[in-house]
Amino acid sequence: MPPGSEWDLRAEAPAKLNLGLEIVRRRPDGFHDLRTVFQAIDLHDELWVRERAGAGVSLAVTGPEAPAVPAGPGNLVVRAAEALAGRRRPGRGVEIRLEKRVPVGAGLGGGSSDAAAALLALEALWGLDPDPAERARLALELGSDVPFFLTGGTALGEGRGERLTPVPAPPSCHWVLVVPDFRIATADAFRQVSPSLTGLKQRINILLTAFEKGDYDGFFENLGNDLEAGVVRIQPRLASIRLELLGQGASAVGLTGSGSALYALTRSQGAANQLLSNEFGTPGCVRAAVSPVGFGARVVPWNR
Ligand code: C5P
Repeated sequence: MPPGSEWDLRAEAPAKLNLGLEIVRRRPDGFHDLRTVFQAIDLHDELWVRERAGAGVSLAVTGPEAPAVPAGPGNLVVRAAEALAGRRRPGRGVEIRLEKRVPVGAGLGGGSSDAAAALLALEALWGLDPDPAERARLALELGSDVPFFLTGGTALGEGRGERLTPVPAPPSCHWVLVVPDFRIATADAFRQVSPSLTGLKQRINILLTAFEKGDYDGFFENLGNDLEAGVVRIQPRLASIRLELLGQGASAVGLTGSGSALYALTRSQGAANQLLSNEFGTPGCVRAAVSPVGFGARVVPWNR
């Protein structure tokens, strides 16, 4: 039997990077309004789903990042599946396998993308009429980044990140993802935001103009992330990793979300290869070449 043939559907859940992030204000509900450009990338988790007799959701997590995520009710995949079943197909059961590859606690949105992939896969499995507005509402209840993964690609995110506008892709370059061996909890990073950081900002607008014009300088110089100063207070090593990458030939370095992952950008393949070479590796950091993609979480066919 070929691998996967016992499953009904397979879905992919790509990671994301934040290209710039501005905190606009702290809201009365405790969240922050922000402006950021989300970019989906080719690093992804995989979900396999099949019907099971009786109600309930069972999840098995496999893959290199499996030890870092819960397989029980705390997993966003379980929460997504239970919420969708409760609203649209009460009493239906499902079995899910999650192949976890996207590092956890790194600002790459893996858990959010898994949740979006679960919503899309279960809509398909249960033959539900898609209701994009209801799907987007449910996604936001699961987490601020989940709505982005329903469409993916390159998008401006506003509000908590759920007000999404597709924008041009950034100018073509080489991307190196750098994942340190420590994690940052998102809530801890947002707690570090000081009121003086909020207010009128222009960087994201400049970034978007740079994408329209294919302007590399505008792209590389406007990747600032308002969460970075606070994250560096939590983990000062991030500042030295950033400096190291710039010293090793990166044209720009950005922090994704609340970290801990950074990404380095170069214009030449040679400079990217240099960043990826053993000679320049930082102890405790994993470096990998990644590429932007123009889609989000999606159900994908496979050869059964
Ligand atoms: O929505 P999500 O579960 O990803 O958010 C995790 C935590 O990050 C929230 O509880 C909140 O403290 C913080 N957060 C925020 N503003 C946002 C997104 C997240 O303050 N726009």
